[in-house]
Amino acid sequence: MENQTHMAPFSSLLFLLLILINATVILSAASVLPAYLPGIRQSSLKNNYAKISKPKTPYETRYFPQILDHFTFNPQSYKIFYQKYLINSQHWGNIGDPIFVYTGNEGDIDWFAENTGFLLDIAPKFHALLVFIEHRFYGESLPFGKNSYKSAKTLGYLNSQQALADYAVLITSLKQNLSSEASPVVVFGGSYGGMLGAWFRLKYPHVAIGALASSAPILQFDGITPWSSFYDAVSQDFKDVSLNCYEVIKQSWAELDAISPHKESLAELSRHFRACKEITSIESARSWLWEAFIYTAMVNYPTQANFMKPLPAYPVKEMCKIIDGSKLGETKLSRVFAAASLYYNYSKTEKCFKLEDETDDHGLHGWDWQACTEMVMPMIVSNESMFPPSSFSYEDYAMDCSKKYGVKPRRHWITTEFGGTNIEQVLKRFGSNIIFSSGLQDPWSRGSVLKNISASIVALVAEQGAHHTDLRAATSSDPEWLIHQRNQEVEIIKRWISDYHLDLN
Ligand SMILES: *[C@@H]1O[C@H](CO)[C@@H](O)[C@H](O)[C@H]1NC(C)=O
Ligand SMILES: *[C@@H]1O[C@H](CO)[C@@H](O)[C@H](O)[C@H]1NC(C)=O
Ligand SMILES: *[C@@H]1O[C@H](CO)[C@@H](O)[C@H](O)[C@H]1NC(C)=O
Ligand SMILES: *[C@@H]1O[C@H](CO)[C@@H](O)[C@H](O)[C@H]1NC(C)=O
Repeated sequence: MENQTHMAPFSSLLFLLLILINATVILSAASVLPAYLPGIRQSSLKNNYAKISKPKTPYETRYFPQILDHFTFNPQSYKIFYQKYLINSQHWGNIGDPIFVYTGNEGDIDWFAENTGFLLDIAPKFHALLVFIEHRFYGESLPFGKNSYKSAKTLGYLNSQQALADYAVLITSLKQNLSSEASPVVVFGGSYGGMLGAWFRLKYPHVAIGALASSAPILQFDGITPWSSFYDAVSQDFKDVSLNCYEVIKQSWAELDAISPHKESLAELSRHFRACKEITSIESARSWLWEAFIYTAMVNYPTQANFMKPLPAYPVKEMCKIIDGSKLGETKLSRVFAAASLYYNYSKTEKCFKLEDETDDHGLHGWDWQACTEMVMPMIVSNESMFPPSSFSYEDYAMDCSKKYGVKPRRHWITTEFGGTNIEQVLKRFGSNIIFSSGLQDPWSRGSVLKNISASIVALVAEQGAHHTDLRAATSSDPEWLIHQRNQEVEIIKRWISDYHLDLN
């Protein structure tokens, strides 16, 4: 019962994303400020590992005067803000050659560009122009500058429909400026960006001839996907590696709950967890651990990578090695802490851990608003999960959002605006040219499209794949299945483009 009450707000907030801002929710229960993703710290960039893996981002940065409100014609709708986009024309051949556009998600566009090396890898094959567009209200694309998050009055302009319209307007302007109106545009995106990519193809088929939507949980809304699926999937990843590992994590929460919330106990826990600053609640330790397991499951990549943090190949397996290999007599909590340290300190550069970190290195701050308005993804933790069970209540969720922003979530809006219910039946005879790519290691895969819908709306599912693994730059240690998945994508996109040219002629 105790668990139920304090975990409920947590499960209710949810996030998308890659970037789950779950810490926010957990912490809101403890009335501590949200700790957004701690992200990749400057210090960790100093080590060798980060240096070798730091991808080149040969993009030019530009700013496009974008209209604030595409859907009303009030005088204030015409306000302009500067939307950032990145462009690379190194491989672009002639006027009329393809334009590949990344539909930016909830953060700094540079960060997504760095982690979407796939586009640079394939651009030469297509002589493609590459464009990464930043989502409004994220990174530098802040319509009201520092005041953008001030209140619902400004945040009201932050939503997915405005974002899609931004992309359509910008792409159209770019093509005009290049005198390349005939260029076929293909959109790409991962996670929320992948959702936007798929929706963009459905809403703006005259602007994009196709979409590659990677790890795009467009079915995570309403009751389409079971509410427990996300945490069940995280748990399954650990269970698949080692049943013992899963059991130890599952049982460790009780040890945490048994710690009294008094100052001395918190001080001791802080020392044990090597906290930079004494923690103010047990919740902080819980969310810090929780975050490590969720993100590690998401980025359970087959090669070493540095997306959320620098990590070795198959990090879930590495975490479980720590848990399974620990000495007899060690508490479960100590073992789980040691495993989480792999996530936070694989770089070996952390002097201490920021358990109540509030930095937002990737500009993800606006997701919380989106989750409180349109992106309502109910999540619960089932008994089968390795996390403590919790429930979800729309009423509590709405109350929480009302308190924070003075607005209530519209729980059915996404399925009303974009669909999702009976998607196979609906899209079988409507729409075309969408690839939904997924990796089953990724907990978001359960809310993604995992079945082929028609000849040209296909699902490419990799059992060993994680969160948009396919969008990452190729490496020399990529496994065969990943090479195959990417090759399939390239072949399908080639077909879209050749069909487009056939129809033109
Ligand atoms: C196209 O050119 C206009 C006029 O110079 C400019 O304002 C706009 O930003 C350009 N569009 C893009 C997408 O760069
Ligand atoms: C991080 O790893 C290094 C190297 O193993 C170690 O010296 C340091 O104490 C670790 N940091 C924390 C906070 O555990
Ligand atoms: C989960 O656990 C609760 C409390 O122990 C119990 O009431 C419920 O029936 C269990 N549900 C399942 C599906 O086992
Ligand atoms: C969808 O079809 C493609 C071939 O077009 C196939 O390679 C793929 O495995 C199919 N996906 C699923 C989930 O069956």
